[in-house]
Amino acid sequence: MKTCIYPGSFDPITKGHMDIIKRAASLFETVYVGVLYNSAKKGMFPACERVKMVEAAVSGLANVKTVSFEGLLVDLLRELKVNIIIRGLRTNSDLELEQQLSYVNNNLLPGTETFALFSRPEMSFVSSTIVRELITFHADISEYVPDEVVTMINGGTKHESI
Ligand code: PNS
Repeated sequence: MKTCIYPGSFDPITKGHMDIIKRAASLFETVYVGVLYNSAKKGMFPACERVKMVEAAVSGLANVKTVSFEGLLVDLLRELKVNIIIRGLRTNSDLELEQQLSYVNNNLLPGTETFALFSRPEMSFVSSTIVRELITFHADISEYVPDEVVTMINGGTKHESI
């Protein structure tokens, strides 16, 4: 298989995301990590910082490229001429949402397929939401976030509180 897109908010990128990215990178020739640039959804980190964090985290993976996108994911798929979306599944509640997203994306752009990779058990509780909570209370995030990103966050990467 050739190319896929792994989209997300990555607010911030976690070791759980990295596990999915590395596994996708071993299955596909090229993996685009698509960072959602969404002005309506107020996150902790601005899009430009989230992109920098993803770039730092994937810098050692030769076939992984970081892109940012605004609006519909299918427009990015069209632009990059890619029809495979990768998503990670941690829990039953993830599954329900991912089924809906997969259905809508396929309706918007027929031929779009969503491939789900099950999170490894040790990653199944790691989420950006938990990491943001820990950051807010100045707790240690090194168990959940790639080293490069821990350094960026502790070094004062700009962010809003939740
Ligand atoms: O990291 P997340 O928040 O689970 O990622 C969700 C994401 C970015 C994949 C999803 O919200 C998305 O694709 N947003 C772009 C808008 C879109 O195309 N939505 C799907 C059709 S309603």
